[in-house]
Amino acid sequence: MAASSKPELRKFVTPEIVLGEGALSLIGQYATNFGARKVLMVTDHGVRSAGWADAVQKMLKEEGISHVVFDNVTPNPKDHEVMAGADVYRAENCDVIVVVGGGSPMDCAKAIGIVATNNRHVLDFEGMDEVLIPGPPLLCIPTTAGTSADVSQFAIITDTARQVKIAIISKTMVPDVALIDPVTTTTMPTELTAATGMDALVHAVEAYASNASSPLTDLNALEAIRLVHRHLSGAAREPRNMQHRNGMMLGSLLAGLAFSNAGLGLVHSMAHALGGRLDLPHGDCNAILLESVVRFNFPAAAGRYRAVGRAMGLHMEGSVSDGEKLAEALAHFRREVGIDQRLGLLGVTPAHIPDMARKAFHDPCLATNPAQPTVRDIEVIYEEAL
Ligand SMILES: [Fe+2]
Repeated sequence: MAASSKPELRKFVTPEIVLGEGALSLIGQYATNFGARKVLMVTDHGVRSAGWADAVQKMLKEEGISHVVFDNVTPNPKDHEVMAGADVYRAENCDVIVVVGGGSPMDCAKAIGIVATNNRHVLDFEGMDEVLIPGPPLLCIPTTAGTSADVSQFAIITDTARQVKIAIISKTMVPDVALIDPVTTTTMPTELTAATGMDALVHAVEAYASNASSPLTDLNALEAIRLVHRHLSGAAREPRNMQHRNGMMLGSLLAGLAFSNAGLGLVHSMAHALGGRLDLPHGDCNAILLESVVRFNFPAAAGRYRAVGRAMGLHMEGSVSDGEKLAEALAHFRREVGIDQRLGLLGVTPAHIPDMARKAFHDPCLATNPAQPTVRDIEVIYEEAL
């Protein structure tokens, strides 16, 4: 075999995963297995009012494990929220973190863990492989089907002074256990189902088009695209339909395994700059930007995007028009699940664009994008999405 045809070495990391209806009920047993004496439970107000935090607290109590709750977490978790959570962890002498919630509480909990063990400020960990000491055992119960922070190497935290989202990327950020129970997603409102589900679709598309993809991430990414395409509008329309909720939970998990190991791309770079500047919902930003980024990236990775189109049931002809066909299908899918606004309606103005484009250009997710844009290219994509 010629040296040039030898595949590159790729690693694939994942937590211990329990997937299926009822997975949540194993939390007491898992916390005991990790020797928990005092658990810091991280959650947010929405998850508490849906009743999932109470359910977990009850199970920890039944197992005789004491815990303290930290729920001061907002969407797009902020640096000061992480530092406050780490203060609680240390003051209460906690030894295990349990998180119940969507991407925001999960990212916040991951960051709390490394701040507590390294005794440093959360912003010191920005970038790739900057975490020296792993956090304490981290057990995740996701309550959305999309962000996949429960299986990923990423935590995204807002630097409130610079108004930018930083990415902490490290193998130490992979949680120890993900108890993935699709029943927890049945209380999500339609808009959250749509936004988080579109985030999962973007994870899968960006991981598949990534220049760090591998056969292992490809399998997960393509199946995730099929599952999200098949189940997202049904899950948004019928919140209690377990066939759709199970399909979305599996799709989100596979997309998470793919992007955690293959990286993301320009959609996430631009969504991070948007979310950091204007505190906008991550899934909506991704959904709105996806079609324009696909148009920009298509010439650099046409074969990859054609496979994405086929996974969505499109007939790809092998011509240059395939890129436009895929972009239009993605726009149609976004509108079908109820995300029909443009960035202008979310409060973005032309004056915001130059600064956001510069920040997106420096976002680490750009490293694995199949095409290298200039700052001006990124400005044009934002303008298109206004
Ligand atoms: Fe995302």
